[in-house]
Amino acid sequence: MSAHIQWIDRLHRGEVLSAGEFAELIDRRTPELSEYLFSLARRVSRARFGNQIFTRGLIEISSFCKNNCRYCGIRRGNPNAQRYRLSEEEILCCCDMGERLGYKTFVLQGGEDAFFTDGRLIPLIQEIKRRHPDCALTLSLGERSRESYQALFDAGADRYLLRHEAADPQLYRALHPPEMEWENRVRCLYDLKEIGYQVGAGFMVGAPGQTSRHLARDLCFLAELKPQMVGIGPFVPHHDTEYRDRPAGSVELTLFLLGLIRLMLPDVLLPATTALGTVCPDGRERGVLAGANVVMPNLSPAEVRKKYSLYDNKLSTGAEDAGHWSELQARMQAIGYELTSQRGDAPGYGR
Ligand code: 5AD
Repeated sequence: MSAHIQWIDRLHRGEVLSAGEFAELIDRRTPELSEYLFSLARRVSRARFGNQIFTRGLIEISSFCKNNCRYCGIRRGNPNAQRYRLSEEEILCCCDMGERLGYKTFVLQGGEDAFFTDGRLIPLIQEIKRRHPDCALTLSLGERSRESYQALFDAGADRYLLRHEAADPQLYRALHPPEMEWENRVRCLYDLKEIGYQVGAGFMVGAPGQTSRHLARDLCFLAELKPQMVGIGPFVPHHDTEYRDRPAGSVELTLFLLGLIRLMLPDVLLPATTALGTVCPDGRERGVLAGANVVMPNLSPAEVRKKYSLYDNKLSTGAEDAGHWSELQARMQAIGYELTSQRGDAPGYGR
């Protein structure tokens, strides 16, 4: 036990642990060790961000996807998935609404939909930036060429979310069909960083076949990549996938990993994710108390929300609804935090 406390202290001092040490910490964690970790993680995030929680409005622009990820409800091979695509006008409307509600970051997320060529995205990005020059624009549209990432950045996109999903190539291959290559995923992340995006990586916790060794590799991968944002949430089964009967990932393990990530990357923008809120009614609050400092409520048109079904029972109402700012605010205030409308760029970024 005390050796493990010392390892956490080492992380807190800025040392990187070995994969073996991370795996042992994960395997041997206790409620007491977790509490110790969370208290340090909160202290680190308080020192950087005070009690402020950054807000992002999430706009799910398309449920068409050319990929066939085995865990995902909107994968190409799911004939029951309901497909939709927002028009440019609808997306602009969501952003206008978002700014009125107090959001200064819009996240355009979608499946890998060939409709959204650079030729369509560039004018859309430019128009969003023209209407909302003070707002940050985050894209989460999957793997693209370096040239495409560059063109979208030049058009005004500020940030890009692309979870690495699994740092271990074997686990990556087990979760994805053969045409998806781990090497390309990693190439995308390094390209995005070099171009100048604020970059978000991340993974699911408790994905089928994932062990503490795999998670340890994920942490080492993050230590090396040093992304500005990290999104993690529990795996949640979707009824139309082969993993329908697999158990959801553990909330408690997700929180433990959030705490480790906060110590390892003190400045990181770390959301308490929708998946965490979905598997546990006070998941968002517990995420914040483990070191998270971002929430990403849903700003998509109400009619399409059910169709963006990555996993079963995905929340999009109540405090998960971008329109319900005051409900989420009350929840954050109840634990001593405050939602903020600031853009919340990574230190050193923002233009
Ligand atoms: N459970 C939890 N998260 C999932 N994602 C996709 N499917 C699931 C699932 N079944 C996550 C992936 C993806 C992000 C947009 O949603 O990590 O990167």
